[in-house]
Amino acid sequence: MEHGEFRGPEKRRRRRCLVLSVALFVALILIIIVAVVLGLTLRQGSNELKHIFLDRCQKFKDSNCEEIWDAFQQAYVNRDPCQVPMEAYDPLVSVASFKPSCNRMMFWSKTKDVVHDFTEKRDCFVTLEDTLLGSVLDGLTWCGKEGSNETLTTGCPGWTDCDNNPVRSFWNRISAAFADVACGDVTAMLNGSIITPFSPTSIFATIEVKRFTSTRVSNLNVVLVTQENAVTNCTNASLKNLQKELDKGIKYNCKEVSESQLEECSSHPEKPCGACW
Ligand SMILES: *[C@@H]1O[C@H](CO)[C@@H](O)[C@H](O)[C@H]1NC(C)=O
Ligand SMILES: *[C@@H]1O[C@H](CO)[C@@H](O)[C@H](O)[C@H]1NC(C)=O
Ligand SMILES: *[C@@H]1O[C@H](CO)[C@@H](O)[C@H](O)[C@H]1NC(C)=O
Ligand SMILES: *[C@@H]1O[C@H](CO)[C@@H](O)[C@H](O)[C@H]1NC(C)=O
Repeated sequence: MEHGEFRGPEKRRRRRCLVLSVALFVALILIIIVAVVLGLTLRQGSNELKHIFLDRCQKFKDSNCEEIWDAFQQAYVNRDPCQVPMEAYDPLVSVASFKPSCNRMMFWSKTKDVVHDFTEKRDCFVTLEDTLLGSVLDGLTWCGKEGSNETLTTGCPGWTDCDNNPVRSFWNRISAAFADVACGDVTAMLNGSIITPFSPTSIFATIEVKRFTSTRVSNLNVVLVTQENAVTNCTNASLKNLQKELDKGIKYNCKEVSESQLEECSSHPEKPCGACW
C-alpha cells in the first residue's frame, strides 16, 4: 500500500509523458499530411489548367493541342504577371489560326449569358467562345512569375488590377484575331438595359470594331437586346458613335429585340438562321 502510494505520482507522470509524446507524434504526422496535400493541390493548380486546356482542345479535331499549349505558355511564364502585353500571344494566334465563318460571326458586349444561351440552342452563329482558343480558356485564370516556368492559377492579378495581365491580354489578343477574320454580314448583340450599350471601354469598342474592314465586312447588324424595363433604344447616341467609328463602306443596321423574342426563337431551332429579328 505504502509502495503503491509512493509510486502513484511517478506512474502518473510517466503516463502523462507517454500521452504527451503520442500527441506530439500525431500532431507531427498531421502537419506532414497537410503539407503534402497542400503541396499537391498547389502543384495541381498548373497541371489542372493544362489538363482542362488539353481536354477542351481535343474536342476540336485535327488540332495540335500540345503545340498550342506550348505556344500559350510561352506568352506568360517567367514574366511579371503585370507585364504581359497582348502581343505576347502573337505566336499563339499564329499556331491556332482563326478561320473565318462569313455571315455567321457574332460579337457581343455585356450580353455574354444571353448570347451563349442563344447560340447554343440555335446553331446559326459563331462567337469567340466557340473558337478553339476562346472555348479552351473560357472562365479560366492563369499567370506566371519571374524566375519560374510554372503556371499559377491562384494569386493572379484580376482583370482590372493591371492592364497587361495575362488573362486580359489574352482576351484582347484573340478578340483582335477574331475581328480580323470577320467577313460578310457581322452581328453584334449589345445590351439595351444599360445606359451606354456601345461602351467606349469595352473590348468590342476598343478592339473589335476598329478591326472591321470594308474589304471583308459588308454589314454590321446590331441586335440591341431589351428587357421589360429597357433603358435605351437604337437611337442612343453611343450607337451613333459606333456608326461613326465603322470603316466607311460597312453598312450599319440596328434592331431592338426583346429577350423573350430571343427565347422564343431559341425554342424553334428549325427556323432559318436570321429569322429571329
Ligand atoms: C444587360 O446588363 C444588365 C446589367 O448588367 C444585366 O442584368 C442583363 O442581364 C444584361 N442583359 C442581357 C441581355 O445580357
Ligand atoms: C524555363 O524554360 C526554359 C526553356 O524551356 C529554360 O531554358 C529555362 O532554364 C527554364 N527556367 C527555369 C527557371 O526553370
Ligand atoms: C428611344 O428613346 C428615346 C429616349 O431615350 C425616346 O425619346 C424615343 O422616343 C425612343 N424611340 C423609340 C423608337 O422608341
Ligand atoms: C445614350 O448614349 C450616351 C453616350 O453616348 C449616354 O450618355 C446616354 O446616357 C445614353 N443613354 C440614354 C438612355 O440616353
